Amino acid sequence: MSIAGNQRISAGEYAAFQGFLEQSCGIVLGIGKEYLVTSRLNNLIKENGYDSYASLLKALQGAAHLPIKAKVVDAMTTNETFWFRDIAHFKILTQAIYPEFAGKRMKLWSAACSTGQEPYSISMNIADFKAAHPADRFDTDIIATDISPTVLQEARQGFYCGLSASRGVDPVSVQKYFDSDGGCIQVKPDIKRRVSFREVNLTQSYSTLGKFDIIFCRNVLIYFSAEMKFDIVQRLAQSLNPEGYLFLGSTEAPPGLKDFFEMRSIAGGIVYQKKS
Ligand SMILES: C[S@@+](CC[C@H](N)C(=O)[O-])C[C@H]1O[C@@H](n2cnc3c(N)ncnc32)[C@H](O)[C@@H]1O
Repeated sequence: MSIAGNQRISAGEYAAFQGFLEQSCGIVLGIGKEYLVTSRLNNLIKENGYDSYASLLKALQGAAHLPIKAKVVDAMTTNETFWFRDIAHFKILTQAIYPEFAGKRMKLWSAACSTGQEPYSISMNIADFKAAHPADRFDTDIIATDISPTVLQEARQGFYCGLSASRGVDPVSVQKYFDSDGGCIQVKPDIKRRVSFREVNLTQSYSTLGKFDIIFCRNVLIYFSAEMKFDIVQRLAQSLNPEGYLFLGSTEAPPGLKDFFEMRSIAGGIVYQKKS
């Protein structure tokens, strides 16, 4: 039995909750993570009028589109992100990938974009590249998706305060690509314009998004089972154009990678290129 505040979760309830979470969003909660559940859900339970984990679980096992399900998934996702995360990935884009698209349209997907730092960093990186290479004209669409409506709302606003206004972003980029507002920063319209946000659950079909030249799917597969990782890697490969590129978090090596991708080491970083 784990206790946080005045709510308790029994071993049986924890097992049922593990099942709900994996089935609804792919996240696998390991043994002994009861504290994670109670610390993230106790307030939500109270605010939504439930009196125990038993009553919450009853609701979660009910009708398909109950809002409480989305709220629980939202509360259980880890949304940590920051500007220009894994800087080597941005060097790979600039040195090896953007030049391929001179005179063409490039379609890019940020597949678990959290509060928007990843797709906006890419948009700023493209702006820098275009300024340095005015002859290499190319158009870009960036689709940014996440399962969590809360982070997507923040991402769409593009307004950041505190640590999220500074972590990973240098003063020169702040000056160029943000309007400052006290201690907060607002992404400029030219950077926002390239990015559109949508709610997508990676464990379900995303074929309606179409095909991409580049996919960023960083620091999300780590939460899923090996089978789910393989399934998503396979479907990401299907969502890429021939010889398209996949970026993963720097420590991630999900099963299936070698079946569908060649590893390329460029500019001190790693990118996976779809096998032809
Ligand atoms: C740790 S953040 C990574 C953000 C960004 N890609 C980065 O590397 O900085 C993980 C994100 O994955 C999202 N996520 C978790 N499960 C998901 C799922 N099944 N489908 C889509 N997004 C999911 C979370 O909501 C969260 O915003």
